[in-house]
Amino acid sequence: MWPGAGPWQASVGSVAVALLVAAVIARFFIPRLWSPSGIKPRGAASSAAAAGARLPAGSLGWPLLGETLAFIFAAYSQRPESFAEERRLLYGSVFKSHLWGAPAVVSSDPEVSRAVLQADASAFVPWYPRSLMELMGDSSILVLGGGLQRRVHGLAGAFFKSPHLKARVTADMQRRVGRAMDAWRRNNGGSGGGATVVRVQDEAKSIVFEILVRALIGLDEGHEMQYLRQQFKEFIAGLISLPVKLPGTQLYRSLKAKKRMTKLIQKIIQEKRRQKRITDECDNLRETDHPRDMIDVLLGNGSDELTNELISDNMIDFMIPAEDSVPVLITLAVKYLSECPLALQQLEEENMELKRQKSGTGETLEWTDYMSLTFTQHVITETLRMGNIINGIMRKAVRDVEVRGHLIPKGWRVLVYFRAVHLDAAVHDDPHAFNPWRWEERTDVMSSSGFTPFGGGQRLCPGLDLARLEASIFLHHLVTSFRWVAEEDAVVNFPTVRLSRGMPIAVTPRT
Ligand code: HEM
Repeated sequence: MWPGAGPWQASVGSVAVALLVAAVIARFFIPRLWSPSGIKPRGAASSAAAAGARLPAGSLGWPLLGETLAFIFAAYSQRPESFAEERRLLYGSVFKSHLWGAPAVVSSDPEVSRAVLQADASAFVPWYPRSLMELMGDSSILVLGGGLQRRVHGLAGAFFKSPHLKARVTADMQRRVGRAMDAWRRNNGGSGGGATVVRVQDEAKSIVFEILVRALIGLDEGHEMQYLRQQFKEFIAGLISLPVKLPGTQLYRSLKAKKRMTKLIQKIIQEKRRQKRITDECDNLRETDHPRDMIDVLLGNGSDELTNELISDNMIDFMIPAEDSVPVLITLAVKYLSECPLALQQLEEENMELKRQKSGTGETLEWTDYMSLTFTQHVITETLRMGNIINGIMRKAVRDVEVRGHLIPKGWRVLVYFRAVHLDAAVHDDPHAFNPWRWEERTDVMSSSGFTPFGGGQRLCPGLDLARLEASIFLHHLVTSFRWVAEEDAVVNFPTVRLSRGMPIAVTPRT
């Protein structure tokens, strides 16, 4: 018995034991009950075909090539989802295909997709193109499974959600955005009062990279930051490239860049370990109870599994959203707002009102202020839905798996195709229209049917709040300080989502 245990704890304890026994009975004797996600448990799948689970209808396409070229052609068009839409009409929203050299099941069915996302490593493991696997390495959280993935995920999620980190990111981001916008103003004066043209994508990338890298590894702006960014650009260029490692190839250059980044990050980790030993010995030297960055969080966990190699590899992977996903979210929001004057006007009014309130009381803006801008959050949600920065995710079945009556044979891939659900007219009215107001009625956006821009289940993006916060801060300062006229630009969806010209806008300061 533990201190304080009394009758109340005893009765709670007996209920817990009863539930545990019931759960064990259900787990081993009634397999169907243990499948809230819609995935049949191990062992049941071999009898899946007999029980009625069937391979989805569809075509495996050409020998070897399968349907990869058709997928890529569609991906380069303005309607990448047409690949899935055409097949949905023929075979239904879950169909079989052959992509990237392997047979695959493609899901644009919200329930099947949810079940795949929620499944654990006993059914599916992440799958990425070979070049990406090669560059990320075996210890990347993106490919890790089991307890280690859960630990790193949990630590990252708790850190990125912590109010302390959000407050720091907000202060850093305000300062950095302010500096960038001062430069726009200076250029504005310099060009005789005419508008200055800035490329939102480039500006957002350099701002967000510095802020997130500081949160990850504690590096301040300066020479090493510039060096890291240069190397990172070389690294990221190889993520989707030919899987050939010979000198002169992109993959070879990217691996070299990764080595140089690893050296710099490991130097930082070693120094932090040394500092930690000193502070652990002299408790009174402890500067703060809050970890300053993600490396501190991982070192603080004290697990031997979190080696220097694992930490540095993961810090590099965590930089991908800093150079890619978050800046693209910001850029797309600016594009969609430029094309929808009504939404821009409402966003301006909301943000100007906040600015007026705060300057009236002399307070500075906190992260909670940005996150409570309801319409701004709807704009970000709608940008995530329309923009599909991550089009979908691939998993590989480690055994025959039955998902809601569909059989996914061992070794097959599953493409959980977010894009096809986000742009499905059966799920969202007029899905190709930018309509932030559609989110007004939906109280819990993340549980909205099939809305998974940040994935779901055990691998739900741990940086989702941070992404929204950074986008809100950028938009707030842009709309309250400038007016702009956007130049023509087009969204490119493959191999990653981006604006082909970087979204040039001509900005003039508000008077
Ligand atoms: C617009 C911005 C972002 C989008 C659209 C996005 C999207 C996603 C998606 C779809 C996944 C799930 C991958 C899977 O299931 O295999 C994911 C995972 C992840 N994201 Fe994000 N993300 C964004 C920003 C961020 C930020 C700011 C961070 C933090 C630095 C971050 C860190 C991660 C990590 C570490 C994982 C892997 C989680 C795991 O496998 O356990 N992301 N993200």
